[in-house]
Amino acid sequence: MLRGIGRAVGWYRGEGWRTQLHVAVRALTCPVDEIVAAVPDGSRVVEVGCGHGLLAVSIAVARPGVHVRAVDVDSRKLGAARRAARRAGVEERVQVEEVGPRWQPPEHTAEVVLVGDVLYLLDDRELRRWLRGVHRALVPEGRLVVKELDAAPGRRTQLATAQERWAVERLGITVGATVRFRAAHRWRELLESAGFEVHGMSQPRAGWHRHVLFVARRPAVEGLHAGSWSA
Ligand SMILES: C[S@@+](CC[C@H](N)C(=O)[O-])C[C@H]1O[C@@H](n2cnc3c(N)ncnc32)[C@H](O)[C@@H]1O
Repeated sequence: MLRGIGRAVGWYRGEGWRTQLHVAVRALTCPVDEIVAAVPDGSRVVEVGCGHGLLAVSIAVARPGVHVRAVDVDSRKLGAARRAARRAGVEERVQVEEVGPRWQPPEHTAEVVLVGDVLYLLDDRELRRWLRGVHRALVPEGRLVVKELDAAPGRRTQLATAQERWAVERLGITVGATVRFRAAHRWRELLESAGFEVHGMSQPRAGWHRHVLFVARRPAVEGLHAGSWSA
């Protein structure tokens, strides 16, 4: 695990110290390997809210057949994401783009949509709208991979909420209007009510946070629920 973190940090050597620190903490506290494992090789992936590109680059490095379109609203981070892809030698398979806050892939175009620690920035109404849009954007049997913090009641959730409020509302490190962590069962309800089949749910450990990772799928035929689709 530490080797993986060291390698990831190396992709950001040459960036400012804030970016290097941010990415090092992120690599320590995010279950990157579990997220990579949820992405099938050979797929076209859209990562929404890629930030400095840690997940996009990790996936491209580990999965030689994957192409990632990595988008974010925050232009400040995207230069580092492009340079990280170049240093890792995957710039031909990682396309980094700035988008507007309501951007979603066009209908029926995405095989995999990945979103890692972005949806807590949306309130329930916006989140439902976002999930319906992604459902439309996926091809039949396309996959949505969602990684969020798990808001089980307790100190960890209070700490994570305070930390993120600080990052979003005070420091402006993350662009967002709200901080709204949700428990795993709530995620399942939201995904299913937007028409997804949930095929995998895990609670990987990384750093001091509790995480929840969902693999959901747009059904082949709407209303028909097929058998399990392993991650
Ligand atoms: C906590 S960071 C996570 C970055 C990255 N996914 C990761 O796991 O390392 C959240 C990112 O979501 C981006 N973001 C916020 N709202 C967004 C939106 N509506 N569309 C795309 N990106 C958004 C922010 O700019 C920020 O880079």
